[in-house]
Amino acid sequence: MDLYEYQAKDLFAAHGVPVLPGSVASNTDQARAEAEKIGGKVVIKAQVKTGGRGKAGGVKLADTPAEAEEKAGAILGMDIKGHTVHRVLVAQASDIAEEYYFSFLLDRANRTFLAMASAEGGVEIEQLAVERPEALAKVPVDPIAGVDKAKALDILRQGNFPAEVIDEAADVVVKLWETFVSEDATLVEVNPLVRDPQDKVIALDGKVTLDENAAFRQPGHGALVDKEAEDPLEAKAKAKDLNYVKLNGEVGIIGNGAGLVMSTLDVVAYAGEKHGGVKPANFLDIGGGASAEVMAAGLDVILGDSDVKSVFVNVFGGITACDAVANGIVEALKILGDNATKPLVVRLDGNNVVEGRKILADANHPLVTLVDTMDNAADKAAELAARA
Ligand SMILES: Nc1ncnc2c1ncn2[C@@H]1O[C@H](COP(=O)(O)OP(=O)(O)O)[C@@H](O)[C@H]1O
Ligand SMILES: [Mg+2]
Repeated sequence: MDLYEYQAKDLFAAHGVPVLPGSVASNTDQARAEAEKIGGKVVIKAQVKTGGRGKAGGVKLADTPAEAEEKAGAILGMDIKGHTVHRVLVAQASDIAEEYYFSFLLDRANRTFLAMASAEGGVEIEQLAVERPEALAKVPVDPIAGVDKAKALDILRQGNFPAEVIDEAADVVVKLWETFVSEDATLVEVNPLVRDPQDKVIALDGKVTLDENAAFRQPGHGALVDKEAEDPLEAKAKAKDLNYVKLNGEVGIIGNGAGLVMSTLDVVAYAGEKHGGVKPANFLDIGGGASAEVMAAGLDVILGDSDVKSVFVNVFGGITACDAVANGIVEALKILGDNATKPLVVRLDGNNVVEGRKILADANHPLVTLVDTMDNAADKAAELAARA
């Protein structure tokens, strides 16, 4: 889960990383009031989960509360890389002597953590990384050893941090590491980390990605979820512990097991080419236990997607045998009643397949078509979607 800048900075503050005071506003009146409270020069910053806000005009300085109100008005409602700005952060502005770059991240390819540091941070960091990669130090971090002051100094020296601030910056880096570890983050990035004219080191921006696999031991993180921005179907699926991903096509897909679902996406996309480019509408893995409740919950999510024109249920019976799954489908259709409106193509194979197919054939539900092979079922589902 990616956090907004203001949420990232709240976490920083909680771990002792120096940030400047500020709070979010969702209208110009609030922005003005916030600027009055802070007093002096402020910065108005678009809160969207994408970088490059500064370059897009989403970060503006304001000398007075009236100007803060005006700048907030210009930024609220802006579109930055497809993200609409609903809120701005109003924060104390800093005079900046130098801008640095610092981050910790999970380096999956090398199975380790990585620190990245550069004395040349700021809005051109991507360009720097491409044109002069040697100016951006990349230092592996042993997860057991972690980052103490000595390690922090080592990283910053490699990033060419100037002598005047390296000691204070190293203290900040140790706190960023504490943030990274204790919040179960996979990314903590500060760009810019600045030096002000008094040589104080401050995090002016913050980007944090939290590892959702750690949610069970991070009870505080639930409050950071942006409920309004969440896709309602994804939220519904999550509440029922289903793995659901929305895609852009027309064929809803339900399968048991991620591997089977992924290959189902491929065969549907392939079959869809013959039917005017029909594509999978989503990815829904109901996991191992395909009970009636789970099947009903899965169908409910899929049928709630108005893009879905047909549904392909592809199940390979294993520990949960095909007859149990077939009963699940029949029961699910009963539970859903009139809410089940789209044609269902079902392919069952594996443990107890004969019994399973018989249950579905006997039920003779008007929406259900039983097809024996995966390829033929994909073709049928694509055909029905194209016809709808
Ligand atoms: N509190 C602040 N005071 C002064 N300048 C700021 C402040 N916050 C950001 N800036 C300036 O705006 C630039 C862009 O802001 P930043 O928060 O890094 O957004 P983004 O990375 O999305 O462009 C920074 O590099 C810095 O120069
Ligand atoms: Mg930035």
